[in-house]
Amino acid sequence: MKIILATNNANKLREFSEILSPIGIEVLSQKEAGADIEADETGSTFEENAYIKAKAVYDLLKMPVVADDSGLEVDALNGEPGVYSARYAEPGHRCAKVLDKMKGVPDDRRTARFVCCICYIDEKGEPHTVRGECEGRIGYEKRGENGFGYDPIFYVDGRSFAELSADEKNAISHRGRALEKFTAMIGEMK
Ligand code: IMP
Repeated sequence: MKIILATNNANKLREFSEILSPIGIEVLSQKEAGADIEADETGSTFEENAYIKAKAVYDLLKMPVVADDSGLEVDALNGEPGVYSARYAEPGHRCAKVLDKMKGVPDDRRTARFVCCICYIDEKGEPHTVRGECEGRIGYEKRGENGFGYDPIFYVDGRSFAELSADEKNAISHRGRALEKFTAMIGEMK
């Protein structure tokens, strides 16, 4: 089975492929499928934005398409950066901005979670959405070289996401969990 992933983010494409190719699902980027667009993320929730991105590509190609919207919610920052995770600061400065805002926040108030919503639009144009979350804490410094985005400051059991191997991250991550639900859903639809 082939699905089109509505994203221009190479890291997301890699993580989707890592998880879906072992179960026989080939992931094509929207660009490879002929949809070189960037939908405006005007929604106020991850669910809305995942739908907006999937729908924009579906409308163009009229083929089954999947999109994810994801981000980091920091409790002490009232859920920031949330749906603005990709636009929170200039590239390369986003982790520093969160660390800066978290200065002086004690251990027990450094809780945060990564959230991933996946919207699948089937061949009839019907949307189906699943959500995965991963609880963790914001550290005091960046650590690790793997992953992307906020991975170096997001810690689970004392290690940052950027210190985990791809397999270790995928086993517990918000995207890994959402993809588990997604594959179960696809299985039931067959
Ligand atoms: P969007 O879903 O394309 O709007 O972007 C989500 C943003 O959230 C990304 O650009 C990252 O900054 C952040 N993000 C989402 N998932 C992850 C992850 O697995 N690790 C680190 N940052 C992430």
